[in-house]
Amino acid sequence: MTLDVVILAAGQGTRMRSTRPKVLHELAGKALIDHVIATASSLEDARLHVVIGHGGDQVREALADAEVNFVVQAEQKGTGHAVAQALEGLGDGQVLVLYADVPLIRRETLTALLERVDERCMGLLTVDLDDPAGYGRIKRDADGEAVAIVEHKDATAAERTIRECNTGIMAMTALQLRRWLPRLSADNVQGEYYLTDVIAMAAVEGTAIATTQPGSPGEVEGVNDRVQLARLERVFQAGEAERLMREGVALADPLRLDVRGELDCGRDVVIDVGCVFEGRVELADDVRVGPYCVIRDSLIGPGSVIEAHSVLEGASVEGDSRIGPFARLRPGTRLARGARIGNFVETKNADLGEGAKINHLSYVGDARLGRGVNIGAGTITCNYDGANKHLTEIGDSAFIGSNTALVAPVTVGEGATVGAGSTISRNVEAGALAVARGRQISKPDWVRPQKASKRDH
Ligand code: UD1
Ligand code: CA
Repeated sequence: MTLDVVILAAGQGTRMRSTRPKVLHELAGKALIDHVIATASSLEDARLHVVIGHGGDQVREALADAEVNFVVQAEQKGTGHAVAQALEGLGDGQVLVLYADVPLIRRETLTALLERVDERCMGLLTVDLDDPAGYGRIKRDADGEAVAIVEHKDATAAERTIRECNTGIMAMTALQLRRWLPRLSADNVQGEYYLTDVIAMAAVEGTAIATTQPGSPGEVEGVNDRVQLARLERVFQAGEAERLMREGVALADPLRLDVRGELDCGRDVVIDVGCVFEGRVELADDVRVGPYCVIRDSLIGPGSVIEAHSVLEGASVEGDSRIGPFARLRPGTRLARGARIGNFVETKNADLGEGAKINHLSYVGDARLGRGVNIGAGTITCNYDGANKHLTEIGDSAFIGSNTALVAPVTVGEGATVGAGSTISRNVEAGALAVARGRQISKPDWVRPQKASKRDH
């Protein structure tokens, strides 16, 4: 049995007041439509069809890497008309209709709906809302069976008191759809071909309508404007916070955490307020993250502490490191066990050996530091000559004095010492002391110049 998922994404999204198509606006760092595609793709053997219209080229471009079939709905004549555009490409099994602007729908909700669908039964996802205004209402007969959906704009005052609403998400067989869609009419208040009219068709011909509900209303909430988008972002983040806490993470405040990607945590991880995690981030057992850190695409090994206001991207930390406060680790930074990065230190493509330290105010880029290397405050690797990047290599236990410029390519040997304020442009042998700065001179008889007026008196 085939499963075709039709994702509607042709609408304009006027209320976003944006030049970007609505479905490309982001929730948790990912386009709305990408959330739906990810969930739909997780259904077994699903083939995805995306109905595009307004901003279609932009949507197509944004989804260039996705495995989906695009269907163009040139004119938006309603949800029924939109699904009809995809009809030709459908198989002969089940069809699931989803909305690109309903991002939080869960896989479990969809599989429960699909389980009900066969030639004698279609599935409809409904939700009870305290404020059902705007939604299509579910009409039921005396036996409690769903028999029709009436759109809010077409509903009578009595029908508008119904709180059970159409989420828009439904499933049926391709055969049923092929039977029903050609019979839709646009004879209604909005002059549109309503997909919802297939419910009454099913009821009349004796096809059962199984209704199921989502785990929570947030799953089926759509995004029409930025207020709703911001609210759904909070719904999503609250879910992430709860998941993390259930997995054993201590959050200082579950309301002040943002996960925009995948965050994987070990046991007894502690995360303070205001942290943002992007891309794929792994925090191993006992990692502590201080307030207001941003961590993107990084692996943080066990027992590491990241102090307040640190920004990490593409970093890999073995374990037991202390980082920050106010540290910036850029892509390609690798810290072996116990390495330490202090405040106002920037690293990029830098390998620090076990226990190496860069404690204050330094830039270390394109560098390999051995075990126990100590870099003094204000040290800069001059890795760029205006055209190419060059490597700085520092052997085990070397000591680099404060305010040193290391002009790459350059090597400092094992156990070597560099005097403070040096500009090192030639290699330093293992064990040697290198000092490369102006010599200090003293003039004991020197008189400080004075202003002419002072001299006269
Ligand atoms: C629709 C349902 C309503 C339900 C509500 C849930 C119909 C007729 N009504 O109403 O019962 O309660 O969703 O949110 O289905 N779209 C297209 N092409 C079109 C028209 C719409 O792709 O020609 C897409 C839109 O981009 C949007 C979705 O379909 O993502 C829903 O369309 P919209 O016009 O917002 O329907 P509602 O009036 O909200
Ligand atoms: Ca809508």
